[in-house]
Amino acid sequence: MNDLTTSSLPRASGRVSFAQLAAATAPPGPAGGPHHAPRRAGPLDARPTILAARGVIKSYRKGPLAIPVLQHIDLEIAQGEFVAVIGPSGCGKSTLLHLLATLDVPDYGEVFFEGHRIDNLTAAGRDILRNRYFGMIFQAYHLLPELTMLENVLAPAMIGETVFGYWWKRRKYRQRAGEILHTVGLGHRLKHKPRELSGGEMQRTAIARALVAQPRVLLADEPTGNLDKATGEEILALLGRLNREQNLTIVMVTHDHEIAAAADRTVTLVDGRVQAA
Ligand SMILES: Nc1ncnc2c1ncn2[C@@H]1O[C@H](COP(=O)(O)OP(=O)(O)O)[C@@H](O)[C@H]1O
Ligand SMILES: [Mg+2]
Repeated sequence: MNDLTTSSLPRASGRVSFAQLAAATAPPGPAGGPHHAPRRAGPLDARPTILAARGVIKSYRKGPLAIPVLQHIDLEIAQGEFVAVIGPSGCGKSTLLHLLATLDVPDYGEVFFEGHRIDNLTAAGRDILRNRYFGMIFQAYHLLPELTMLENVLAPAMIGETVFGYWWKRRKYRQRAGEILHTVGLGHRLKHKPRELSGGEMQRTAIARALVAQPRVLLADEPTGNLDKATGEEILALLGRLNREQNLTIVMVTHDHEIAAAADRTVTLVDGRVQAA
């Protein structure tokens, strides 16, 4: 890892610009240079595009067989939007979210973040990008059972720092983690462990963990999938509040139309493509 990792979180003082990150981590040559994400059309056109997929194609290989999943995805997410990507189980929603998050790479096509191409970053560059700019939540909360809620929320900061870096900033980190747990309504659960909490509280903690690094985009994969209806609605209300009050860009994938209705805009995946609105 290069030294960008040592100044990882939080970024209130002196955030490393994405251009610097791209320059430091992209492979040399034309593929690593600055690109411009396509202009988006539609009612939110005035807002700049934060995340875009252009001509993205993805298949999985099973022996000699290629299983096509994403056939040709063009998608643009504007800064501050709350977008739901909807489609039936198995249609490639998680695959798309993973490609947007640089957890996987497309076979063809390009992914852009703030106008910079990101699908071709080195593995180390993608790690930094995710740690700094993307927060992710999943259907299963993936909390560490031995850690308290506060410690779970602090985990990304610990991972993003050197031991000394974390030690120096630990007070600031703990304060921020406590604040964010208050924001998601769990200020009274800082010292509890996951087994002592409900599903909704665990997902709130996972949201707090995703937000502790002050990401630019929250990517949510079926975030209410393990919750009962009322608790799922609470989580959606929380996401809506974070979107409105903190201008947090959210991309949420779901197979459920009722859940998708919580977003400002719905994008439907059909046969590996975005259905025309
Ligand atoms: N790692 C993988 N290897 C092989 N096939 C996969 C892999 N991940 C997903 N798939 C297949 O790709 C398709 C899309 O999966 P996924 O993106 O998880 O769909 P969704 O999230 O919409 O339910 C499914 O048919 C799934 O079985
Ligand atoms: Mg999925």
